[in-house]
Amino acid sequence: MFLSDNTAPACPEVLNYLQQYVQNSVDHPYGGDQLTSKLNDIVSNIFEREVMVFPVLSGTASNCLALAAMCPSTGAVITHRNSHLSVDENTAPHFFTGGAALHQIGGGADTISPEELSRFCAKRPWRDVHSAVPRVLTITQATELGRIYSTEHLQELGAIARHYDMRVFIDGARFANALIQQNVSPSAAVMPSGASAMTLGAIKNGTFGAEALVLFEPELFPVVRQKAKQTGHLASKMRYLSAQLHAYFKDGLWLNNARAANSAAKQLSGLLNANPHCELAIESDTNQIFVRMPDALHQHLQDAGFDIYPWHVEDQACFRLVTNWATSNDHIDAFANALRSY
Ligand SMILES: Cc1ncc(COP(=O)(O)O)c(C=O)c1O
Repeated sequence: MFLSDNTAPACPEVLNYLQQYVQNSVDHPYGGDQLTSKLNDIVSNIFEREVMVFPVLSGTASNCLALAAMCPSTGAVITHRNSHLSVDENTAPHFFTGGAALHQIGGGADTISPEELSRFCAKRPWRDVHSAVPRVLTITQATELGRIYSTEHLQELGAIARHYDMRVFIDGARFANALIQQNVSPSAAVMPSGASAMTLGAIKNGTFGAEALVLFEPELFPVVRQKAKQTGHLASKMRYLSAQLHAYFKDGLWLNNARAANSAAKQLSGLLNANPHCELAIESDTNQIFVRMPDALHQHLQDAGFDIYPWHVEDQACFRLVTNWATSNDHIDAFANALRSY
C-alpha cells in the first residue's frame, strides 16, 4: 500500500506509551495538564529555544490555526499555487482567518523563488485599502513534491518576508523527512527562515491523532488557543494528544521513523528507475515518489494489492507512491515481485 503516509498503522511505541503512562491518568482538561505543559520543554529542547506547542487533531487545523493567529482577516497569506494550503484544505485558510486572502505564486512546480517573492511583494500598492496586504508567507518543507528548500533558500525567503513585514509559517507535514535528508539540527533547519510557527508533521510520521503546532513566538499562543476554541479544535482531553507527542519525540522516534520512510523510498525509487516501463517524473529527496508508468502496469499493481494514487506534476500525469515508517523490506520485495510479473 503506497497511497499515503496516512496508511501507516498505529506506531507501537505511541500505543504502548499511552497504555503505560496515561491509561489511568487524571488531570486538568483543555491543555491545563502536566503532559501538555511538559511538551513545551521537550520541543523547546529540540529547537534550542523557548517554544510553545499546541496539539491538534490534523495538519489542516494546525496550519490554519497558525495562519489565523498571524494574519488579520483583511490581510493575505502568500503561498505556493500548488501548496496543500492552496489546493487541499478546501476553504479552511479563509474560514480560520475570517476571510484573509490567499495570494498564490510559484513559478516552479513546488517552490517559491526569492526573486519571484520579491517581485510579487514589490509590484502592488499594498498600502492601498483596495488590496489585501500580505502578512504571512507559507513554505512547505519538505515540499508537496518531496523536495527540500536549502537553508540558504529559506534564509533568503525569510529576509524578504521580514523586509515586507510578513511573518513566516512552515507547513512541516514532512519536516522530519526533510531533516533526515539534510542532516542538520531542527534549529539549523528552521531558524534561517525566521519562522514564527510551524506544523511538525507528527500524524504522517508516527502519531495517530496528534499534530504539533509549534510556536516560535510564544505570544501567539493565547491567540491560537482562542481561535482553537472558536473552531472546535481545543481538545478537552488534550493530554491524550500530548501523550502521543511525548512518545513521538522520545528516544528520537520521530527521526528514526522518518529515516525508515526515506530509506524505503530510496529502495522503491531504485526499483522503479530500473524498470523499463517506468520513468521517474522528478527526483524527490524524501518519502514521496512520482513516476510515469503505463495505465496497464498501474492496474496490474493495483490488482496485486498496491494502491497508488494517480497524480500530476504540473501538467504531466503520473502516479505518486509514498512510503512511511512502517514500510518493510517485505513490502518492498512484494512490490518488486509484482513489478517483475508484469
Ligand atoms: C503538505 C501537507 N500539509 C498538510 C497536510 C495535512 O493534512 P491533514 O489535515 O490531512 O492532516 C498534508 C497531508 O496530506 C500535506 O501533505
